[in-house]
Amino acid sequence: MDRFEYDILIIGAGAAGLRAAIEAASYNPKLRVAVISKVYPMRSHTVSAEGGTAAVLKEYDNFDLHAWDTVKGSDFLADQNAVELFVKLCPKEIIQLEHWGCLWNRDKKGKIDVRAFGGMSVKRTVYAADKTGFYILHTLFQRSLLYENIERFDEWFVTSLIIENNRFCGLTAINIKDGSFHIFKGKSVIIATGGAGQIYAFTTNATINTGDGYAIAYRAGIPLKDMEFVQFHPTGIPGKGLLITEAARGEGGYLLNNEYERFMKRYAPEKMELAARDVVSRAMYFEILKGKGFKGPYGDYIGLDIRHLGSKVIEEKLPTVKEMAEKFAGVDPLKELIPVRPVVHYFMGGVHVNINTESPVAGVFSAGEAACISINGANRLGSNSLSECLVFGAIAGRNAAIFASEHDFCNLPQESIIKEEKRIFEGILKRERGIPQAEIKYELKRVMDEKVGIIRNEEGLLEACSKIIKLKEKFKNVSVEDKSNIYNTDFINVLELDFMLDVAEAVAFSALYRRETRGAHYRNDYPNRNDEKYLAHTLIYKTNGEPRIEYLPVVITRWKPVERKY
Ligand code: FUM
Repeated sequence: MDRFEYDILIIGAGAAGLRAAIEAASYNPKLRVAVISKVYPMRSHTVSAEGGTAAVLKEYDNFDLHAWDTVKGSDFLADQNAVELFVKLCPKEIIQLEHWGCLWNRDKKGKIDVRAFGGMSVKRTVYAADKTGFYILHTLFQRSLLYENIERFDEWFVTSLIIENNRFCGLTAINIKDGSFHIFKGKSVIIATGGAGQIYAFTTNATINTGDGYAIAYRAGIPLKDMEFVQFHPTGIPGKGLLITEAARGEGGYLLNNEYERFMKRYAPEKMELAARDVVSRAMYFEILKGKGFKGPYGDYIGLDIRHLGSKVIEEKLPTVKEMAEKFAGVDPLKELIPVRPVVHYFMGGVHVNINTESPVAGVFSAGEAACISINGANRLGSNSLSECLVFGAIAGRNAAIFASEHDFCNLPQESIIKEEKRIFEGILKRERGIPQAEIKYELKRVMDEKVGIIRNEEGLLEACSKIIKLKEKFKNVSVEDKSNIYNTDFINVLELDFMLDVAEAVAFSALYRRETRGAHYRNDYPNRNDEKYLAHTLIYKTNGEPRIEYLPVVITRWKPVERKY
């Protein structure tokens, strides 16, 4: 067992983690920053972000409008002080990336181009074809290489946070390459581990998105916030989950039912296909429920029509859409409809942090999808998330660096390290015979898809909660079939599943107790928004039994909740 010592530990090497690392490293070159990620940085999920990143850059646009769109999109659950800060900092981050070499698409005058996106009043989504995440991540990664005080631990799996007297002390991690267990001492930590789409079967999320950051925080006594709000993106490829970017609709694509009707006119007459994602996804779901979907091998679907955009627009601005339609849906999008249906895409909730990215535990910060600040409330607008990673990644990096400059290391409590090592190696790895992780994972994904999906109700959520409790019991008999040390993915999958069960618990119980409909959380037994009771964030705490729920009022600065129409 090695003991490493760094001033700042960053878990995750996607957009939020790398942006935080750069900010922390440049704040003070004497501070030593460790970036710990279970994958090589360019394999972080940011790489698959497609359509773009929002920022007010054009003369016709303004901060108030971006803030209003975001607050309305959130169904008034976003904290408005955080949203106001966010929109003001987005342009700076985009220009900063430009200076670091990011290749944005250009308009005819050579200026950074923008495209339309759902729920945005005007075109404000900056993009790089439909591979925006790939370009952003490359830029951040290359930039991070300039800093000698950033050291990377690629393919290391963090298993727990070590906290003593409400103060961060360090973390435990496994080196995936050889299965060894280690300790990292740190003054501050930033959790930037992305989301947890993998607790569902049908998701756009990479297999790495197992909610590790949520679970380690939850286990360490930090509440998770607004976990019931799981975003369904309208356009996933049936059977695969791969994302057809919202940019396809932003560039003018339509959604058609099996009568070739642009049905969105009945659900969102003004914004049509560019209403907020929760509205579009539900409309598609209802059309399918009414028998108005096309029949396909993976169930009924809706048709996305981009034929009229022509080959120039498709090849120049939507090359990934074309490639994915051809390779994964088996259609030529220049001639045929692309089959799509709503798919789990993003977690609005996350580690409870404030506008400064600080959690209730001193020294623990979080940013990106892992965090809930909250600027997204009950529904995030497409293209706000990459910007959120940049803006709040930078804030987290700076604040974690300030914290590390002002505090010393604390002593590591030996008992918790020994307990964690025993939990993993004696409790899990050494068990000779038991249940394969795939069996439990399959059951978990099925119950999440069926009972905690796009439409929810009391009966289904109660079933989901009790099933998750049973699966947690079943997990006590899980076994790792492969006992080797080198790149033991079976072992890592079991540890991930353990985390996924905690995340699923937080999602299902938070959803059960929010007896209203708001944004992505649609309860057919409580179909209306209830501001009197639920204009509040859910905070869920882990206990030895069922989780504990508390509510925290939403910060309203300028925009009183009104009826939400598109
Ligand atoms: O459709 C998309 O390109 C997704 C963007 C986002 O989630 O922000």
